[in-house]
Amino acid sequence: MTLKKINPTQTESWKKLSEHFEKTKYLTLTDLFRSNSSRKTDFTITENNLELDYSKNKITSETMKLLVELANEVELKDAINKYFSGEKINETEGRAVLHTALRSNSEDEVIVEGKDIKPKIQTALRKIRAFSNKVISGKWKGYTGKAITDVVNIGIGGSDLGPDMVVEALRFYRNKLNVHFVSNVEGDHVSEVIKNLNPETTLFVIVSKTFTTQETISNANTIRDWFLRSGSIFDVAKHFVAVSTNLNAVYDFGIDKNNVFPMWNWVGGRFSLWSAVGLSISLAIGFDNFKELLNGAEEMDIHFRDTDFSENIPVVIALLSVWYNNFYKAETEAILPYTQYLSKLPDYLQQAVMESNGKSVDRNGDEINYQTGTIVWGSTGTNMQHAFMQLVHQGTKLIPADFIGYKESLHGLTSHHEKLMANYNAQMEALAFGKTAEEVHLELKTSGDFDKINQLLSYKVFKGNRPSNALLFDKLTPDSLGKLIAMYEHKIFVQGIIWNIYSYDQFGVELGKELAKKILAS
Ligand code: F6P
Repeated sequence: MTLKKINPTQTESWKKLSEHFEKTKYLTLTDLFRSNSSRKTDFTITENNLELDYSKNKITSETMKLLVELANEVELKDAINKYFSGEKINETEGRAVLHTALRSNSEDEVIVEGKDIKPKIQTALRKIRAFSNKVISGKWKGYTGKAITDVVNIGIGGSDLGPDMVVEALRFYRNKLNVHFVSNVEGDHVSEVIKNLNPETTLFVIVSKTFTTQETISNANTIRDWFLRSGSIFDVAKHFVAVSTNLNAVYDFGIDKNNVFPMWNWVGGRFSLWSAVGLSISLAIGFDNFKELLNGAEEMDIHFRDTDFSENIPVVIALLSVWYNNFYKAETEAILPYTQYLSKLPDYLQQAVMESNGKSVDRNGDEINYQTGTIVWGSTGTNMQHAFMQLVHQGTKLIPADFIGYKESLHGLTSHHEKLMANYNAQMEALAFGKTAEEVHLELKTSGDFDKINQLLSYKVFKGNRPSNALLFDKLTPDSLGKLIAMYEHKIFVQGIIWNIYSYDQFGVELGKELAKKILAS
C-alpha cells in the first residue's frame, strides 16, 4: 500500500482556492477583524496547554474550508493512517517512517517486516534509562576510577541538531553533567570542544546511523587519538559509547558490545531525537525528563491522528503555510521563539523542514511545476527585533511568522516576563495592523515635528497586513517541548503529502559528499 499520488494543482479545491485567492487577496487584517468581533475565538485552537491563535492570517472561514477540502482531496487521512501504522511511506528508500512509535505508550503493535517493533523500543528505553542513571549517579567510572563530569555528543545533521537543540532548550532541567556537541569536520570545532576536557572524566557518545559519515568519523578518530595520549586502548570502552545501526564499524572502533545503542532504518536521522540518538538529552536532564519529552510528543501525535482537520493544530499550520507558499508566493517563513532557551530551534527546523520538503520531483516521478518546501529561518525574541525585524515589518517580502511564547517564565523574573510578552504581542499586532498615514500624521503633529511631516510620513507608515501564528504554551517543560517539536514534524508530513513529494529521503545531500571524496582522493 503506497501513498496516493495526487497532483494538488489538479484538484477541484486547488482551482477553487485560486479563484478564492483572486477574490480575497486585497482584504486586510484590519478589515477582517473589524467585520468579525469573534475572529480571535473563531481562529483559535486550544489543546493540551497549547493555544494556537491563527486569527492574524490572511484568511476567511471560506479559505480554511477550501484548504481543508484540499487536505481531503489529496487523501491526507489515508496518508496519516499509513504513517502511523508503519506502511513504507518512505518509498524511495523502501522504509517505514515511525518516529511516532518511539514515543507511543499504547500497547498496540506496530509491525515492520512482519515483527512488532514495540518490544525493541522498550528495551532501548530501558537501556537508555539504566545507562543515564549510572552516569549521572557517578556509578559509571572512567579509566582512573573517577566519575564522569562531561559528555560529548559526536554527530552531525540529525545526529546532532535535535539533541543539541533539546539540551539547550531544557537547560533549566539539567543536572551537573556538562554536555558538549561536536559536529563540524572543521578541526577548530573539535579542538575547541576538547581543549579543556579531562579524558579521565569525559564520556564520548558517537552518534551516527551509518557510522560512515565523514565528519563524525573524523571527529571520533581525532578524539580517540587525543584520548589515547592519556588512556590506553583498553580504556576506550569506558569512555566511548555509540548509537548506530552499523555494528561492525562500531566494534572496529573499539566500543564494547554492551555500550552500543540501537538506531533503526524506520527512523529518519532528522526525526531521531526520540530514540537513543537522544542519549545525550537523557544524560543532560535525566531519563524521567527525557520520557516527559516523549510523552508530550505522543500527546501531539494523538491530537494529530485523531482530530478533525479544521481543529487539528499541525494540519492547520501546514495548510496556512501552503496558502502562503503556493498562492501568495511567499518564499520563507520565520520561526520566532520568545525564549532564549529555544535559540537553536530555527537551526534544528532548517534540517527537519528543508531536508524533508526541498524536493522538485513528485511521487509520480515527474518534475514539479509548483512551489514545494519553504525556507525557514529565525531567531529569538526580543533580540531579533533589534536585528532583522525591520525587513519583516517594512520590507518588500511577505514573511509569515510563528511566534512561540510561554505564559510563565522558568526562573520567575516576572517583570522581565511581562516585558517579553508585551513585545511578543506587540510584534504580532504591528505586523497585522501596522500604522496608517493618518496615525503617523497625527503623531508627528502632536510631537511638534510639523515641518517633518512631508519628509517623513511615508517612511513611518507600516502597511501591516503581515501574517503570524501565535503559539502560546503555559511553560517551557520537557512535555511542552515534545509537543512543539512533534507539531512541526507533523506539519512537515502534511505538506509533503499535499505537495505530492517524498519527504523522508535526502538524495540531494549526496552529490556534494561524493564530490568531496573525489576531490580529497585526487
Ligand atoms: O547528510 C545528511 C544526513 O544523511 C542526514 O540526513 C543525517 O541526519 C546526517 O547526514 C548524519 O548521518 P549519520 O547519522 O549516518 O551520521
